[in-house]
Amino acid sequence: MTEKTILVTGGAGFIGSNFVLNWINQEGSPVINLDKLTYAGNLGNLSSLKNDKRHIFVKGDINDRTLVQELLTRHRPWAIVNFAAESHVDRSIHGPEDFIQTNVNGTFHLLQETRAYLETLEGEEKNVFRFLHISTDEVYGSLGPDDAPFTESSPYTPNSPYSASKAASDHLVRAFHHTYGLYTLTSNCSNNYGPYQFPEKLVPLIILNALNWKPLPVYGDGLNVRDWLYVQDHCEALRIVLAQGKSGEVYNIGGGNERKNIDVVQTICSLLDELRPVSGQKYASLISFIKDRPGHDRRYAIDARKIGHQLRWKPEETFETGIRKTVQWYLDNMEWVKSITSGDYQRWLEKNYGNRGTA
Ligand code: NAD
Ligand code: DAU
Repeated sequence: MTEKTILVTGGAGFIGSNFVLNWINQEGSPVINLDKLTYAGNLGNLSSLKNDKRHIFVKGDINDRTLVQELLTRHRPWAIVNFAAESHVDRSIHGPEDFIQTNVNGTFHLLQETRAYLETLEGEEKNVFRFLHISTDEVYGSLGPDDAPFTESSPYTPNSPYSASKAASDHLVRAFHHTYGLYTLTSNCSNNYGPYQFPEKLVPLIILNALNWKPLPVYGDGLNVRDWLYVQDHCEALRIVLAQGKSGEVYNIGGGNERKNIDVVQTICSLLDELRPVSGQKYASLISFIKDRPGHDRRYAIDARKIGHQLRWKPEETFETGIRKTVQWYLDNMEWVKSITSGDYQRWLEKNYGNRGTA
């Protein structure tokens, strides 16, 4: 391996696998991909790299310090990009333990092993090394309708076990920079959507339920607002942050696309009416308002001016172009969908939606 190798964690998940594909395509340098392959990890996302020597997949846990140490020593990466996490808010409400184990303890162990590895480096190799931690806008809490979007200095007020665990990991990253001088970069981004997203999240869940002519579950009044970021725009931003970001800095990454949930669902329905029409029927007739998520944050919005001004990044896709591509991708990749909507997935649907009641 050359000094150009990077270590990606969670690279078989939604954003991680899009990032690995983007990285190999754009940078062409080797990636060590450490992923535990939880229900959310899927090597099928990376099938196009099957015979590509630049992608080395390692099944394992970021909490396994011996394994992490061994990978760092053997491959001598110049960067770690940490995507590995439990990522679904509803699952964190049903069972928060895994979120603490991976998001908090896992990040801590990764940081500790990074420190130990850096002790073994000298000169240029030590100076260039960086740790990019992928986080979320949810750490900043919930906005009112007229509040200004989150900036990098917005206070942390996480409201779900998921966002609290991500906030804890962000604080650890910050502390390792300030205390030990580790070259860290943290990015806090908004809701990603696009190819390979596991259908527990709103966009793919709505597409797949609609295609199966099942109810389209909208929590509460459907007026919660999220900012939508096309996953490839996010991956481009991360490559720029990794290359040019300043040590210890935080970068907010957003799509500039605030939408109410009900509008997102309506847009998907209209696209399906156009791309996969059902004679005499409208997909929107399936919309069903169900009991709200406990502690449901009302609105997220990102102020992405820092990354725009300092690193010259802006998203390519509008919500309209990105969601059209996404719906088309799911229509074109039903084999991928079939491969992941197994027994486990059906059990999750039953747990979260069965007997939930209406809004
Ligand atoms: P995901 O759930 O699709 O994928 C997570 C990946 O991490 C999976 O491949 C899983 O197998 C792996 N993983 C879980 N625990 C692990 C462990 N202990 N060791 C090694 N691997 C492990 O998540 P995603 O949507 O791709 O999100 C990636 C990162 O981006 C997460 O840190 C998440 O908090 C953050 N994020 C996601 C979004 C979004 O909209 N999806 C938005 C903001 C931030
Ligand atoms: O903001 C970034 C975050 O976005 C990431 O940190 C998380 O990892 C990611 O899961 C996502 O969190 P959300 O909770 O915003 O995403 P989700 O797709 O679960 O829900 C989007 C909105 O849609 C939210 O307001 C809840 C609502 N929703 C969701 C589901 C699954 C519904 O109305 N019905 C549903 O069935």
